[in-house]
Amino acid sequence: MKLISVSNIISEVNRYGFTKSHLFLDEKESNFLSDKCNTISRKNKIVSYLDVKPDSQSVYENNYSVKNFFQAITTNIIGVDEELDIFFNKIFSNKEVTTVLKKFTGEGYILNNLSMRYMNRNSKFVGWHQDDPNAFSLAILLNNTDHNSATTTFIKSSHMFKHKFGKSLEKINPKYFKEISHRAIGRKGEVYFFSNSTIHGVQVGSASTVIIGCFLPKEYIDKKQIFPKLTLYNKDYNIALDNELGRLLNFNDNKTYQYRQETDLKKSRFAQKNLSFKNLIMYIFLFLLSTTLTTIEFIYRLRKK
Ligand SMILES: [Fe+2]
Repeated sequence: MKLISVSNIISEVNRYGFTKSHLFLDEKESNFLSDKCNTISRKNKIVSYLDVKPDSQSVYENNYSVKNFFQAITTNIIGVDEELDIFFNKIFSNKEVTTVLKKFTGEGYILNNLSMRYMNRNSKFVGWHQDDPNAFSLAILLNNTDHNSATTTFIKSSHMFKHKFGKSLEKINPKYFKEISHRAIGRKGEVYFFSNSTIHGVQVGSASTVIIGCFLPKEYIDKKQIFPKLTLYNKDYNIALDNELGRLLNFNDNKTYQYRQETDLKKSRFAQKNLSFKNLIMYIFLFLLSTTLTTIEFIYRLRKK
């Protein structure tokens, strides 16, 4: 595993808010990862998100997969297979990976979640949206993807937009605005990074599986999940993850789960701050669209009362 162009990756994030896919795992490593993940998918039963008890959301559960609202199947993959945990620890201890993560989340960053996502033509699109602006993600492709695949799609340079769009554009299918967007396509074993402040969505298409790790700055240290005592391979988590992966999860300090929404960290970690003329026009357009949609929704709710 090796990222050759860390400086390119950093400048792509600064410029666009995301990177194109970059070579990372060699053939043996990517086959190892996809084989392990396929085995987990085959073994797991699939539970509808409607049947997942709300109070269980803070407890880390890795013995089933969840079909979410978008008909995507998500699976927690830590603590399932010992070799896989060792492999993820290797990925998150990789010097180049940590350099990129540190650059955009600061020293002492933590792992908010690591999961496998499967989508296909039967899934629903995930409309344009922004997540917590302080979050930063890494995704590893588990199969080759092209323009017909289900993929995450980004609006270029939207991480620089001053207006917080949040979920206001969520009704819009990311297949629109092709001219200003980028689909995260690439080959199995490649990796891409993105800031969750970049407007993004997921387009549906042929089946694709991706591993997504979402990281947060250390200020979010109390935003954590409760881990059970033992992994599915019957090892104490404290022993199995006495490493960087364990540090990222802060699992051995099982304090009460608190959800802290969008901590305001004030300072931006992006080097580029000015929009090009084309991006400025796009920003104004999206701002007007967002305001219009929010107003329509407000009037609709008011009339419904
Ligand atoms: Fe998102």
